[in-house]
Amino acid sequence: MSPMRRLKRLKIMDQAWLIMIMIMAALTSTFLFWAADNSRNAELAHSRTVADMADSLRNMVSKEGGLYVRRRANEDVGKVGRYLGEYVGLPSPGDPDLPYYVFHQKNPFMALADYSDEVQHSPTSAKFRITSDNFMNPANQPDLFDLEALGVMRETGVTEYWKVKGNTLRYARALRADKNCLACHGRPEDAPAIVRMKYRGLEGHPRGGGYGYQLGEIVGVTSVTVPHNTFGVTLTRQSWGFWLSVMTVFGLTVFVFMQLMRGIVAPLSRLSRYADDIAHSDDLCKVRQPRFDADEASSQNEIHQQSFALKALHESMRSAVDHITRHGH
Ligand code: HEC
Repeated sequence: MSPMRRLKRLKIMDQAWLIMIMIMAALTSTFLFWAADNSRNAELAHSRTVADMADSLRNMVSKEGGLYVRRRANEDVGKVGRYLGEYVGLPSPGDPDLPYYVFHQKNPFMALADYSDEVQHSPTSAKFRITSDNFMNPANQPDLFDLEALGVMRETGVTEYWKVKGNTLRYARALRADKNCLACHGRPEDAPAIVRMKYRGLEGHPRGGGYGYQLGEIVGVTSVTVPHNTFGVTLTRQSWGFWLSVMTVFGLTVFVFMQLMRGIVAPLSRLSRYADDIAHSDDLCKVRQPRFDADEASSQNEIHQQSFALKALHESMRSAVDHITRHGH
């Protein structure tokens, strides 16, 4: 027997239960999917904002021609961190003995790396950095996720890539080489002396060590990490509105189910039992009649009508049997 036919031959009550269970399962998975999807979209929006802020800082520093960090000549240069150029200021006109200032130029990526360090040490849960598989500074090396993102971007041309890893969401945005970048990252011999001096590239190779960028190619990524809510946490973070709608939908479903059971399925099995009793009874007078309404004859409800019709049939059978018993011989 085909499964469909087997299903149709089940008691209507059992069929109704099966359908109910299926609806409940579908509703539950829909709600869980929504909750998880909303939460992930929020995390993705968070990542994009962080990447936007990182890119904006980079653009700003780039427009200003660098970020200059000031240090007094007698202070340790270590506090400045990485820098490219160094400019010595004039001694203070008021007091020639006062130590003069030295200005350290940071290019956009150094400024961003400082910013990133600052963020790493802040309570903020989001982290970001800029990385490339062709790097000048090994401190900027990509990790496995960054490499994977770069691979996918170069292969498919997408400019965004993200992935959930444990309780973090990793997000990468493509970084393309434009004309400006080539000034430092193009051929090593074209790079400013200060860059060439600090970052040597690969001896004898035009490409490598952060040099050899081609115009328009994806050279690296802005790489962002934000916290990811696991499924359980996502559920506990839902608002009361979410739970209210869950309860409303489930409540309505159960209500509709109960109504169907009480209004159709239960009367139907009562009727079917009644018909069965008539068919198999030795004494038609003893068969108990169901009653669904005080006036079944005028009711629009088909079950009431059928009950009424069945009772009429019952009556006429009884009088026929009566007739035969009395006049039969
Ligand atoms: C003024 C020279 C200069 C320009 C212009 C420049 N960079 Fe860089 N870039 C550097 C230096 C120097 C570093 C290494 C910084 C460090 O030590 O952390 C660097 C680091 C990077 C890094 C991190 C990986 C690495 O090489 O260590 C990426 C990615 C990068 N630059 C991409 C770009 C892109 C894209 C542009 C154009 C939008 C650009 N750079 C423009 C000098 C430059």
